[in-house]
Amino acid sequence: MDRQARVDLDAVTANVTALRDRVPDTKIMAVVKQDAYGHGAVRCARAALAGGASWLGVAHVDEALELRRAGLDAPLLVLLAVPGEEHEAAIRDGVDVTAGSVAQVGIVAAAARRAGRPARLQLKADTGLSRGGATPATWPAVLDAALSARAEGLITITGLWSHFACADMPGHPSVQAQLTAFHDALAIADKKGIAPEIRHMANSAAALTVPESWFDVVRFGGALYGLGTLPGGAPSFLRPVMTLTARLAMVKRVPPGTGVSYGLHYVTKRETTLGLVPLGYADGIRRAARGHLLAGFRGRRFPIAGTVCMDQFVVDFGDEPVAAGDEVTLFGPGDHGEPTAQEWGEALGTISYEVATGIGPEVPRIFSQNDIGASRPAPLIPSTTDVPTDTEMRALGERLAGLLRAGDLVILSGPLGAGKTTLTQGIGAGLGVPGRVVSPTFVIARVHRGGRIPLVHVDAYRLGSLAEVDDLDLDVELADSVTVVEWGAGLVEQLAEARLVVQIDRLPDSEERAVTLVAEGGDWADRLAGFEP
Ligand SMILES: Cc1ncc(COP(=O)(O)O)c(C=O)c1O
Repeated sequence: MDRQARVDLDAVTANVTALRDRVPDTKIMAVVKQDAYGHGAVRCARAALAGGASWLGVAHVDEALELRRAGLDAPLLVLLAVPGEEHEAAIRDGVDVTAGSVAQVGIVAAAARRAGRPARLQLKADTGLSRGGATPATWPAVLDAALSARAEGLITITGLWSHFACADMPGHPSVQAQLTAFHDALAIADKKGIAPEIRHMANSAAALTVPESWFDVVRFGGALYGLGTLPGGAPSFLRPVMTLTARLAMVKRVPPGTGVSYGLHYVTKRETTLGLVPLGYADGIRRAARGHLLAGFRGRRFPIAGTVCMDQFVVDFGDEPVAAGDEVTLFGPGDHGEPTAQEWGEALGTISYEVATGIGPEVPRIFSQNDIGASRPAPLIPSTTDVPTDTEMRALGERLAGLLRAGDLVILSGPLGAGKTTLTQGIGAGLGVPGRVVSPTFVIARVHRGGRIPLVHVDAYRLGSLAEVDDLDLDVELADSVTVVEWGAGLVEQLAEARLVVQIDRLPDSEERAVTLVAEGGDWADRLAGFEP
């Protein structure tokens, strides 16, 4: 494919699970509006729910209906209130809608009458952002309108909510002022006898920095996708989800003094190699990127030479050997030295959200449940087996251990609770490791000796980068050990040229797990050929 945005759905799941730890006793609403910030709403919604989100949030009714059509029946809130949207269909589909004015309550109540069932309505207080929602002056009237509609059986008041103006500016005085205003709004509602299912206020930045903002639910948007608006971007425990790549359409060697692209604003200083990237401003590569070192190739950055055109731009590769068809990475998680969306945002004077949502729909999204990384080697020879119980998962680990040799890397993927540690316990038993293999969640890595080969068990969940694995300073050579990494997909592939990837998926509505063994490079395909899972 000449250009693609790879979306690592495992990273969405892992990001949500990591965020869940940060906001204990609080539910997570996964904000998947605007096609999940350009990442693909339906798939990201599923991945976020798998990670522990219990609500979904979108901007428009049509986005909500699309999620429902895709079979997502989780609680779902439409954050914007726009007259003329398909409220009736939303009400029929059990979607929560928002109102922040008496008129909006009226629109919803009328739609509920037509739908023949009560609307699930959330009331929005404007506590200082001056966007949607009722101001303190109009809040009591909005509550009264909602109470009248409730008395007529037209609505259930399911939520009360608000939104911060400056949550990404830690310490900004408006944050506390808005919290106070929201508490006031809640108190007025309480006095009027309104007891909603949920009260919520925090977006990603607030949830990560202001625990008083958590209430019952926090609304994570950018954080799901590893993006952030706080200074410096998302915290390192979150993994960027999208990788944007393109194959060079052509390359050419040009002499010094060659003007490049519209306006000839860029002029080569010496003989150099130019590469043509088939992405342009119609795909979301902003014209303002001209001159920035934002093209990643083989771990280095090269400048965007001259004007970005509608569907192409030129990169100056200097003397780097490069050929037509080579893949350039514009942004990604940063594992391979490529720029991140955060860096694009900083270079272009915007935020990473605008960078990711700006990538046009015509750029194909390629979804990987088991991160394909920037340079994952083929061939993949999957073999799947269903494992119904923990005992059988352990037994599978024991049998797998029979295949393992010193220097092997095994990457375990799958949602929380899928059985990754149980499988590792089996591997430990199969290697003859004495004692119990317990999850290394809090210590990140444990070395188990005393078996046929030392077992290094890593939980990469909290690791931001591969470098942090080196920093662990394990007193064992990985070449002499078997290394099993939970949550390692997309992060630790570089530790070994060949590896076995074990993907564990929970089967819907059952205790059974599907285990897929994927051979990646080396002689793994041969080794798996004779293996009975
Ligand atoms: C009302 C509301 N809540 C939550 C969010 C999520 O914000 P963030 O992506 O910063 O987490 C948004 C996004 O703009 C929003 O408009």
